[in-house]
Amino acid sequence: MNSNRAFIKLLRPAARKPWTVTCEHIKKRIWKTSILALLIGLLTACGLDAQFSEYEDVPRYFNIPYVSTPPEVVTAMLELADAKPGDIVYDLGSGDGRIPISAVLDFDADKAVGIEINPDLVSKAKSNASKAGVSDRVKFKTGDIYAENYSEATIVTLYLAEDANKVLLQRLKAQLALGARIVSHQFKMGDWEPEKTLRVGDRSVYLWVIKNEPTDRLMSFCQYRLRCS
Ligand SMILES: C[S@@+](CC[C@H](N)C(=O)[O-])C[C@H]1O[C@@H](n2cnc3c(N)ncnc32)[C@H](O)[C@@H]1O
Repeated sequence: MNSNRAFIKLLRPAARKPWTVTCEHIKKRIWKTSILALLIGLLTACGLDAQFSEYEDVPRYFNIPYVSTPPEVVTAMLELADAKPGDIVYDLGSGDGRIPISAVLDFDADKAVGIEINPDLVSKAKSNASKAGVSDRVKFKTGDIYAENYSEATIVTLYLAEDANKVLLQRLKAQLALGARIVSHQFKMGDWEPEKTLRVGDRSVYLWVIKNEPTDRLMSFCQYRLRCS
């Protein structure tokens, strides 16, 4: 009997030890994995940021001149996009500001923003907005459309060039919310088929809608952030 107890005592610590050791081992593993994941995350973020800045420089070489959209085409673009109260309209490359001004003045959009690289045109657009009495809801910013954030837009309007649209495509798909509309005067967006096409005299106006296509959006995010294709 005594020798049995002694034998069990002898066994118990040995039987418990592996279990205690396994728990601590798991805890240590979790800590190590978390620290490793954090490090990988930090390194990846630094790498992506470097790539992203590099990417931002490329399209600045597109030389898109200032040519204004005729008033009837401005109206057609905003009608096709179904601009209405509640919308936030961004015009990328806003020239004299006619599209953002019309969005608020004629379609009662909540807000409109024009991003324009030429500061003289920004001054002109601001003065036009002031004359139209919409300066409180229409803003113009001197900036580069390939580096700006327009994720709050529910409608984006474009009159640029096919190459520029192709570059903006991934950025727009990655930034805009579901249901956001993109309208482009004259130029398509690579092989992204427009939802609707409208003819206004000799001009074409195209409409795209951001849809819930998870694979498509993931691919766009990947192409936009990582430049993989
Ligand atoms: C064809 S005009 C369109 C003007 C206006 N959206 C309209 O439809 O009447 C293109 C505008 O984009 C501007 N632009 C070109 N590259 C740009 C860039 N990288 N960032 C911001 N604006 C740019 C040009 O200065 C020009 O005013």
